[in-house]
Amino acid sequence: MAATPVVTLTPSTIVTIIIFFSSAFVLANSEQFARELHRNKLDQKREKLTHLHFYFHDILSGANPTAVDVAQAATTNASATGFGLVRVMDEPLTESQNLSSKQVGRAQGIYTSADSRTVGLLMVLNFEFTEGKYNGSTLSLLGRNAVLSGVREMPIVGGSGLFRYATGYAQAKTREFDPATGNAIVEYNVFARHY
Ligand SMILES: *[C@@H]1O[C@H](CO)[C@@H](O)[C@H](O)[C@H]1NC(C)=O
Ligand SMILES: *[C@@H]1O[C@H](CO)[C@@H](O)[C@H](O)[C@H]1NC(C)=O
Ligand SMILES: *[C@@H]1O[C@H](CO)[C@@H](O)[C@H](O)[C@H]1NC(C)=O
Repeated sequence: MAATPVVTLTPSTIVTIIIFFSSAFVLANSEQFARELHRNKLDQKREKLTHLHFYFHDILSGANPTAVDVAQAATTNASATGFGLVRVMDEPLTESQNLSSKQVGRAQGIYTSADSRTVGLLMVLNFEFTEGKYNGSTLSLLGRNAVLSGVREMPIVGGSGLFRYATGYAQAKTREFDPATGNAIVEYNVFARHY
């Protein structure tokens, strides 16, 4: 005959079991995955509109490039638009067109040649600001950059710090371009709504 397992429930075991289940119940109640908050807090804050103006320095040549190629397709060299090229950037943003002028932040992210017919970049980047009250705040940009066009408009899709809840757009205009090196200076006007 198989032995029947015997569990002896002493009073202290019962107390332990009760404590375990009741604390599990409290936990389940306090650790909610998501809950809706009243909008009052947000509505009390005034929505702001901020215009930022700066110059973006895309430096491919020299010992300290600010954008580097990280990948390309086997067919990229044969493509007139560089289709398939992926570049990572950490570009200085300055107050005036002169690279030696005050740096107000960096543009960090990726741009990739995503158009096989005309020159068009997919831009995925964070503007990290380092100046004044904006120090530490960021804006995120995601858009199409037809770099040969006069003014390109790209969406601002989010932000952090002073730019929480940001939406808006950026307008980019190339101010200098050196075909020999590929280096460029691009003027940015960014309009962001945020709280
Ligand atoms: C593409 O061109 C670059 C620069 O001339 C060269 O370094 C690279 O090897 C070429 N890649 C292919 C797949 O031909
Ligand atoms: C850029 O600024 C530096 C330092 O202020 C100055 O020496 C230089 O001449 C300026 N360059 C141009 C092109 O204005
Ligand atoms: C920005 O913030 C960083 C980190 O808090 C600090 O080290 C830096 O000095 C600040 N820069 C300016 C210009 O205030």
